[in-house]
Amino acid sequence: MSSKDKILEYLELNKGTYISGESMATDLALSRTAIWKAINELRKSGYKIDAVSNKGYMLKDGNDIISAPGIISYLNEACLKKYQDGDLIRIYDTVNSTNRIAKELAIAGGQHGTIIIANEQTEGRGRKDHSFYSPRGGVYMSILLKPEELLAHTSSSSTNSVSNKSTLLNSLAPDTITTFTGNAVCTAIENLTGIRPRLKPINDLFIDDKKICGILTEAGTEFETGDVQWIVVGIGINFDSDIKAFPSDITKTATSLFKPGEATFTKNKLVAEIIEKFLLFS
Ligand code: BTN
Repeated sequence: MSSKDKILEYLELNKGTYISGESMATDLALSRTAIWKAINELRKSGYKIDAVSNKGYMLKDGNDIISAPGIISYLNEACLKKYQDGDLIRIYDTVNSTNRIAKELAIAGGQHGTIIIANEQTEGRGRKDHSFYSPRGGVYMSILLKPEELLAHTSSSSTNSVSNKSTLLNSLAPDTITTFTGNAVCTAIENLTGIRPRLKPINDLFIDDKKICGILTEAGTEFETGDVQWIVVGIGINFDSDIKAFPSDITKTATSLFKPGEATFTKNKLVAEIIEKFLLFS
């Protein structure tokens, strides 16, 4: 993890509290100059960081910038074991499609559980080769799963989702995984907002009869054996999207969790909540 990310993680973990540059330098084994430089870089990237003499630095509430340290700061202990060093959470600003990046990574031997997240997609894809409109304001993420690790993990882990586990073990069918993902996202949203979206089989989530999230599961198989080698689960959520600015046909059928600028929690928190629901897999 870079010094900048270490400092961001530290500030995220202590959000709302002033921390002196000195204690940060000691705790992170960095020089005061390195801290100062990183704080400036973070500010340039858009973070609002207060600096008060004799008190130190504080990350202010309302910084809604997706980052690995920001997501990690919300993860429970079980998830931290896997995602702590931040390598498995890759954040991009603009990409063609997070599913495409995750698939390329899968082919190149990427690790099970890797998560690709972007602020916007220029060629977001939906089921049946439809496009998925993906402007800023949404959360676009893809999770890479490797079947052999999925099976090893689900059979040895002691979570209480036994029925989900046996269903998965019996079948790695995309529909099963898509439905599991849909339920996981519904629960994450319900935990944070009190509203449970309706899962319209198999890949759409609705609130008030308007689409809030779409899921696309893709897989790569070995041609000779038919064995599934990797699975990529893509999730697109309208978070604080400007729905009125969407193409008119989508405006009529889509909704967003929040209006722009009115979110009551951050995208990092939502992503962390989804990752926790996915722990069964990772
Ligand atoms: C659908 O509505 O048919 C599914 C939409 C899936 C969209 C997500 S956004 C993240 C990931 N990357 C993509 O290109 N698609 C999925």
